[in-house]
Amino acid sequence: MPAPQLLVLFGSQTGTAQDVSERLGREARRRRLGCRVRALDSYPVVNLIHEPLVIFVCATTGQGDPPDNMKNFWRFIFRKNLPSTALCQMDFAVLGLGDSSYAKFNFVAKKLHRRLLQLGGSALLPACLGDDQHELGPDAAVDPWLRALWGKVLGLCPPPPGLADIPPGVPLPSKFSLLFLHEVPSAGSEGQQVAHTGSREPPSESQPFLAPMISNQRVTGPSHFQDVRLIEFDISGSAISFTAGDVVLIRPSNSAAHVQQFCQALGLDPDQLFTLHPREPDVLPPARLPQPCSVRHLVSQYLDIASVPRRSFFELLACLSLHELEREKLLEFSSAQGQEELFEYCNRPRRTIVEVLCDFPHTAAAIPPDYLLDLIPAIRPRAFSIASSMLAHPSRLQILVAVVQFQTRLKEPRRGLCSSWLASLDPGQGPVRVPLWVRPGSLAFPEMPDVPVIMVGPGTGVAPFRAAIQERVAQDRTRNVLFFGCRRRDQDFYWEAEWQELEKRGCLTLVPAFSREQVGVCAWGLGKEGRGSHSAPTRPLPCRSRKCMCSTGSGSGGRSCGSCWTARVHTSTWQGERSQVQRERAQPEGQPHAPSATAPLATPSPCQRMSRKPWCPSSRRRADSAAPTPLPIWPGSSGHGAFRLRRGPEPLGCP
Ligand SMILES: Cc1cc2nc3c(=O)[nH]c(=O)nc-3n(C[C@H](O)[C@H](O)[C@H](O)COP(=O)(O)OP(=O)(O)OC[C@H]3O[C@@H](n4cnc5c(N)ncnc54)[C@H](O)[C@@H]3O)c2cc1C
Ligand SMILES: Cc1cc2nc3c(=O)[nH]c(=O)nc-3n(C[C@H](O)[C@H](O)[C@H](O)COP(=O)(O)O)c2cc1C
Repeated sequence: MPAPQLLVLFGSQTGTAQDVSERLGREARRRRLGCRVRALDSYPVVNLIHEPLVIFVCATTGQGDPPDNMKNFWRFIFRKNLPSTALCQMDFAVLGLGDSSYAKFNFVAKKLHRRLLQLGGSALLPACLGDDQHELGPDAAVDPWLRALWGKVLGLCPPPPGLADIPPGVPLPSKFSLLFLHEVPSAGSEGQQVAHTGSREPPSESQPFLAPMISNQRVTGPSHFQDVRLIEFDISGSAISFTAGDVVLIRPSNSAAHVQQFCQALGLDPDQLFTLHPREPDVLPPARLPQPCSVRHLVSQYLDIASVPRRSFFELLACLSLHELEREKLLEFSSAQGQEELFEYCNRPRRTIVEVLCDFPHTAAAIPPDYLLDLIPAIRPRAFSIASSMLAHPSRLQILVAVVQFQTRLKEPRRGLCSSWLASLDPGQGPVRVPLWVRPGSLAFPEMPDVPVIMVGPGTGVAPFRAAIQERVAQDRTRNVLFFGCRRRDQDFYWEAEWQELEKRGCLTLVPAFSREQVGVCAWGLGKEGRGSHSAPTRPLPCRSRKCMCSTGSGSGGRSCGSCWTARVHTSTWQGERSQVQRERAQPEGQPHAPSATAPLATPSPCQRMSRKPWCPSSRRRADSAAPTPLPIWPGSSGHGAFRLRRGPEPLGCP
């Protein structure tokens, strides 16, 4: 392998920027260029002054925020004392991933590009601004930008003479080799976790706390379409601490049924043990995997087999396929021209990796295990707003989880990995432990005790406000107003008794609204005091107000101008799933699963479909072409599931 010339650094929250970075790494290797690909925070940033050529691949998350795995880098690079010549040796390019329906579109990439110029770096190209909202997704901007980039890069570092490019159909070496151990599998390897052992350091992604689950209670009525759980964990001895607005990150596992299906498709023995060996000197095996590790552990805890595969999955699978017909189809799916059809096959019905592998049985059965970690991304953690306060429940952490389940044209209902996994855990049947850690959220509550707070949190979006109200009441801060919306008082009115009790004590003014009850009746009375009322349509609140805190008064960020106060409004974007929905740029087909749904349609496998007329993209285009901007956002089937629709009055996910 040639000496590393190119450095690719990424900041990624949900994996897209990482996937694009790995694509860059593969493309470099095919061009015989040495290349390192690293998450920004795992690269020693002080070494940047020695790097001649760096490509930064950065997503924007939250509301114009950098992803978690580049936050340290972000703080460092914006230090005021960095000299304006700090990076004058560096040629760089910035590839941004974002979504133009957000106010701060690709904010991180744009700001980073400017900052690198300020520090003396030379830009090879203008920043690339990938956009989820484009009909072809971010690739529409990324593909041409990468072509231009390679032109520049090869001009700066030409490949060694006499070495031709490695053609696209030839697989590159895998990142790791798996050495299977030929001995009796030990019973202890399964379920191993690299866990927090009670040190003083708070748990983190690399060392989560295995929190005992205390309770897991359904809080929606038995006939309500949505299963919502109030889940409580014991965090004693974990060094976890949090305040209102913080979030807990939970790393889920795959279901036993999916693990079995996957192992069967690939012909793997789940009990077999192996050790993992990086092929390159500066690559480490994932810290989350024990050594030796069982196949079952790898598949259940690490490989995200229930995710919808990306284009890079099809590229590698095509390289590995020995079956002519399947290979042809896989190559089509990985080509630029095949993206419309890939979208129809995978993204629209939300077909999972394990299902795709079952559709390509010959290829799946021949996948060399060494490639598993190149082919399938790692399971990513899911964020949940903490719904309790340590002041009210010391040593406890509660969350309110909407279980994601919906129907597409596929026979099997689609189930959210983490929410379904959490819902399946029953501490009544024996001890249950869940790997978790906490990070600060983007909602901040006023520090001044007298500042009243108005909170608007429909559905499960009320979770962080329950934490805030508990915390504020424990601190004797009684000027709290909560606007809460749900469908029916008797079905999904979370913590009704608790709110009523607080109202009685004079600690809360509650303004409830029930969208499916008594149409035409004033939905937002202003509580008992009858100080006024707002008539509101009995329909979901617009998403931008789903989680907003208005704090009035100075000292809390409010601005005072004489006798007039300006309220500060915080909104928090917390639809982890939204980016993926938005990637379904036209009209995703998912509907919340209802047992009475019309008879499911079985779809033919792609190889069966090959003889058919090619799919005509016009239906999707039509939907897109009518797109007005800015797009309205509506809450989905709960407070968690905001779907931006291109048009149409009724949100997907709202039956
Ligand atoms: C800061 C933050 C705080 C959060 N707090 C909470 C919280 O307090 N409570 C809570 O329940 N969730 C919360 N979420 C969302 C949570 O992190 C997960 O995204 C959610 O639980 C779903 O995860 P999952 O693994 O079950 O689903 P996944 O396996 O990730 O699947 C979700 C995917 O399913 C798709 N999908 C879902 N419904 C439909 C539909 N009807 N039609 C088509 N596609 C659909 C979407 O593409 C979505 O991306 C929060 C997210 C963030 C970022
Ligand atoms: C919770 C959330 C917040 C987001 N906020 C922004 C934003 O402020 N600006 C933007 O351009 N894109 C935003 N996006 C879109 C992402 O940047 C885009 O989906 C990107 O491809 C994600 O890359 P990643 O998977 O590497 O994190 C947001 C996406 C999510 C899920």
